[in-house]
Amino acid sequence: MTSHAIQAGILGVGSYTPEKVLANKDIEKLVDTNDEWITTRTGIKERRIAGNDQVASDLGIEAGLAALKDAGINAMDVDLIIVATSTPDMHYPSTACIIQDKLGCKKAGAFDLAAACTGFVYAAVVAEQFIKAGTYKNVLVIGTEVYSRVVDWEDRSTCILFGDGAGAAVFGPVAGDKGFKATTLGSEGSGGDMLTLPCSGSRIPFGETESVNARAVVQMQGREVYKFAVRVMEEGTEEVLEKAGLAKDDIDLVVPHQANIRIIEHYAKKMKLPMEKIVANVDKYGNTSAASVPLALDEAYKQGRIKSGDNLLLLGFGAGLTWGAAVIKWA
Ligand code: ACO
Repeated sequence: MTSHAIQAGILGVGSYTPEKVLANKDIEKLVDTNDEWITTRTGIKERRIAGNDQVASDLGIEAGLAALKDAGINAMDVDLIIVATSTPDMHYPSTACIIQDKLGCKKAGAFDLAAACTGFVYAAVVAEQFIKAGTYKNVLVIGTEVYSRVVDWEDRSTCILFGDGAGAAVFGPVAGDKGFKATTLGSEGSGGDMLTLPCSGSRIPFGETESVNARAVVQMQGREVYKFAVRVMEEGTEEVLEKAGLAKDDIDLVVPHQANIRIIEHYAKKMKLPMEKIVANVDKYGNTSAASVPLALDEAYKQGRIKSGDNLLLLGFGAGLTWGAAVIKWA
């Protein structure tokens, strides 16, 4: 009997970063730090900062438009929009609905997805389910963040790390043996305290008191998050490769979450992968959370580093704690 399973894959990608560049030298004027410390500990040289009038939806719209254009899809052909973000414009309306309206995707459902820096990988896996079930054809997934609004610019241990940006991909049915080969999603809520953005929900409503308000910024136990990151990147890779029935050498390009070049280099060493097989642009953008994987993916694509038939490994990790991995054969 012939199988008529629908295979989901990537039809187009796009990204957007704000114009304003904040270099390490500029941060030296804000907190007691220096370019040398930031570069050696993180690999970050600069990051982008959204304009005063820009919010997450604005960045996401630009990335979404670019992805639709790359895919050759009209706004009216989008069936579903998933926006991965932990810095939404507001709790509701969702950033996805704001983007749906402004892009003119009149036939699309839309929702936000919260998995912090793993958000894009989580959203990509959700998109795959709708497509292979035959429910939807074209799913626009956007990762967009304005972390500059939720970091404490007086805390040198966190403010140096983050940046603003957006990346997007259109997922849809692909032919032949292309598309998703395997995925895995994980969570470790017991480690949630390692990385939090408190004072933004029902536990401590935003702006409740002045003292509480001071905590409406990213709080992180950097060392612990670092250990978590290197562990799950390795475990996630092994798990997803096994599910896909592939060997490490079958992977042509790894697109990991961009948090710290040391995490990426540690991963490369542990997995015995050459750095040429791993996308790293954390030097230019810092950690853009849910935007980082699609931003790196789009950059690699524009640089001609991805060709049809290549096996890509998308790898995310972040607050929750969460992680996720997906192997996708490029259409
Ligand atoms: N400039 C100068 N000195 C600094 C700075 C700074 N910007 N920040 C910290 N230091 C100091 C500390 O005070 C400390 O000084 P001490 O030894 O006198 O106490 C010293 O440098 C070492 O600090 P550590 O925090 O131990 O430095 P570490 O080598 O661990 O690097 C870092 C810190 C870069 C944050 C690292 O731990 C890291 O990258 N962790 C992972 C972060 C990450 O992946 N985050 C993901 C977020 S994902 C999401 O979902 C949002």
